Amino acid sequence: MNTPVKQHLIDPEICIRCYTCEMTCPIEAITHDDMNVVVDADKCNFCMDCIPVCPTGSIDEWRVVNTPYSLEEQFGWSELPPQEDLGEAETGMEALDEAMAALLAEAHAGAGGKAVAPKSAARPAINLYTLAQPAVAKVQGNYRLTDDPEHDVRHIILDMGGLPFPVLEGQSVGVVPPGEDENGKPHLPRLYSVSSPRDGERPNYNNISLTVKREPDGLCSNFLCDLEKGAELNLTGPFGATFLLPDDAEARLLLICTGTGSAPMRAFTMRRQRVVGGKSGGMLMFFGARNPESLPYFGPLKKVPENLLKQELVYSRLDGQAKEYVQDRMMAREEAVAEMLTDPATHIYICGLKGMEDGVEHALTNIAESIGQPWAILRDVMRSEGRYHVETY
Ligand code: A2P
Repeated sequence: MNTPVKQHLIDPEICIRCYTCEMTCPIEAITHDDMNVVVDADKCNFCMDCIPVCPTGSIDEWRVVNTPYSLEEQFGWSELPPQEDLGEAETGMEALDEAMAALLAEAHAGAGGKAVAPKSAARPAINLYTLAQPAVAKVQGNYRLTDDPEHDVRHIILDMGGLPFPVLEGQSVGVVPPGEDENGKPHLPRLYSVSSPRDGERPNYNNISLTVKREPDGLCSNFLCDLEKGAELNLTGPFGATFLLPDDAEARLLLICTGTGSAPMRAFTMRRQRVVGGKSGGMLMFFGARNPESLPYFGPLKKVPENLLKQELVYSRLDGQAKEYVQDRMMAREEAVAEMLTDPATHIYICGLKGMEDGVEHALTNIAESIGQPWAILRDVMRSEGRYHVETY
């Protein structure tokens, strides 16, 4: 049996045949015929130089395969083949990595049924790195995002070096805390949403960012928040094949988050800012935090133009003011939310505390009813169309 390998591919449905990737590749691993632009698996060394220069993102496709697709096979494609199911043994996926998938399924349970990726989302690579074969990342920076002394939230940038680590907005990675548990076994990785877009925290650099809140006695969050520049850590994943950004620039996004649940929303916003700017269908975000000092990315958010992202920042612990949660503000902006619910281009993303699920569901129920739509039915339609996504923890 062959050992599974990662293969870099180009999506023939999206590629515009501009050949920029071919001209950029320093080792001539990319070539084309009259039909397709393709990557030679025997030559590609995953340097990633071609990724940021592609104007469409079609270059950012990956499959784990037992036998790499030949050039001839790729020339014949009108669309990419799906990721083959290689089975547990063949992918080298351990039971522990399956536990990661179970954790993610649990985080997505609040959507009320089987999650489906947006129709126009790029195809994600998943489980490229396992506990048996983790990716080693190096800390490029660890910055405090919050002024509140009781509330330490960090923006941690990880350099993936020469390793291919393709990750789409909305995906998560597993962080393996060092050391062993009380049974002498390695700790189970903890899931963290990636907060950078697919071409990296900084375009042209193979890096990703995480948004991490220090939890009292939290083994992994304290490990991450204390990491110094240059330190190395093991990652598994990427994980997540449904909580993804539609590539369709016309898709409208209703984003609802609390605290570090803003991580995927940041990735979505940066991707749109880099690729479509103000020409997108637009995004409306309800973002709940204790106060401005504890709202992650408060400063950078102020610079995001309103035609890209309308922001409703909601605070629960402002001196002299009543507690307000995201669901309260959604009710206060009932008309704007209702209008989005009637639009088949709208995609809803909810990320943050599990406790917010009920309140947000209640608000959506009331708002949908105000326009004569039973929310339970509308929600199921949206979910089955890949337009309703929940990730809570
Ligand atoms: P609270 O002041 O009641 O804790 P962080 O993770 O940074 O603490 O932010 C989480 C935010 O979500 C806080 O403002 C918190 O308010 C708020 N929150 C807590 N419980 C809920 C809930 N059930 N629904 C919506 N927001 C909530």
